[in-house]
Amino acid sequence: MHSLAGRHILLGISGGIAAYKAAILTRLLKKAGCDVRVAMTEGAQAFITPLTLQALSGNPVHTSLLDPEAEAGMGHIELARWAEVILIAPATADLMARLAHGHADDLLTTLCLANSACWVMAPAMNQAMWAHPATQRNARQLESDGWTLLGPDSGEQACGDVGAGRMLEPEAIFSALSTLMDELPALAPAGNVLPAAGLTVTITAGPTREALDPVRYLSNHSSGKMGYALATEAIALGAKVRLISGPVALPTPEGVERIDVESALEMQTAAEGALDDSDIFIGCAAVADFRPAEIATHKLKKQAGEAQMHVVLTRNPDIIAGIASHSHERRMAGQPSPLVVGFAAETRDVICYARDKLTRKRLDMIVANDVSTPGLGFGSDSNAATLLWHEHDTIAQQAIDACPKLALAREILLRALTLHHRKTDIGPRKRR
Ligand code: PMT
Repeated sequence: MHSLAGRHILLGISGGIAAYKAAILTRLLKKAGCDVRVAMTEGAQAFITPLTLQALSGNPVHTSLLDPEAEAGMGHIELARWAEVILIAPATADLMARLAHGHADDLLTTLCLANSACWVMAPAMNQAMWAHPATQRNARQLESDGWTLLGPDSGEQACGDVGAGRMLEPEAIFSALSTLMDELPALAPAGNVLPAAGLTVTITAGPTREALDPVRYLSNHSSGKMGYALATEAIALGAKVRLISGPVALPTPEGVERIDVESALEMQTAAEGALDDSDIFIGCAAVADFRPAEIATHKLKKQAGEAQMHVVLTRNPDIIAGIASHSHERRMAGQPSPLVVGFAAETRDVICYARDKLTRKRLDMIVANDVSTPGLGFGSDSNAATLLWHEHDTIAQQAIDACPKLALAREILLRALTLHHRKTDIGPRKRR
């Protein structure tokens, strides 16, 4: 049986002259026993008709994001989840640029954003367009995001130019895809497998309260919304979720195991207790860095004539750094260890401080957010962030513009899942 047999391949076709070759590729994939679904951009339909691809793939072809009929069949999110591999052939310069910048302005780009499986593309364009610094920059960004680029090939082009830019022949793409599958034998079983199925995600959320006396405490403005959004999305992605929550006024998301804590020390105990069976640990809580050195047994009283009061604070443990350090030791000992994701709440030099925290706290990834921007960060329903993670010997980053916290949470989780799958080497999902 061919290594591609039974695989769910979503073939994306964008608008270039090489689009006609997608028909041959579809035939090769079908002959190998793949289940092929096709998504075409508007431009692609100028070069080859959806009807041709429908006849060859044996499935309805998807062309529009806002097609109620198609959505009533297999909706775009369902289609994105269904795909084990997204193969785009041809991938034009414009499509590469849109994907490199995280756009979701048509069906194909939206499917790519909503999918966390294996991503492969075969670029095809005029040689000058391929050589352009912008395309080269986009190609590097896409590779760093997890895309595998096949080609382009060199030679004579449809426009008469000669050089690198033409799409690899369908047979070469097919053979490279087969090799990719062979290299990644533990492919997730075909079917609607959610990307976080079988994983346990532990998330800290909300503020901590550091008691001064029985009625007063030191705290901060965290509402818990970001952490709870992460918990909600992690459940939607199929994970088992444990939420270690500081005091907040939010309902527990359905299906989530919630552990309520008050102080940083309580949060640390709960976090360390979760280490053993966590695959991903996300520290989103705004943990107080200091706590009163002593908690008065009785309510503190004003003294007559007292204009000032001095409180001695003592340093709280750095919870996420401790978790990351344990995880690192386990990894070194060849034991299972969680992927550790921290947050950095900054008001200036955001990326610079976040890079420092990523390295100093030995995190696998950090979510840097500027908490000085009105309407974002603490307490609001929206947020913007830059994700930073280790990629080979450098630090890669992905900026996510202001969006609802739920949408940001999904992006954070998809990136974390990619890093987790890569770390544990469990199959093509590691490609992203
Ligand atoms: O709760 P919301 O109102 O929705 O607001 C969301 C948020 C702004 C709180 C969230 O997006 C965020 O930025 N959370 C991290 C807040 C924070 O404490 O950042 P920090 O840069 O001070 O800490 C860096 C990392 O170390 C964080 O992962 C933090 O959880 C962790 N930490 C910090 C101190 C400490 N003693 N122990 C820790 O584990």
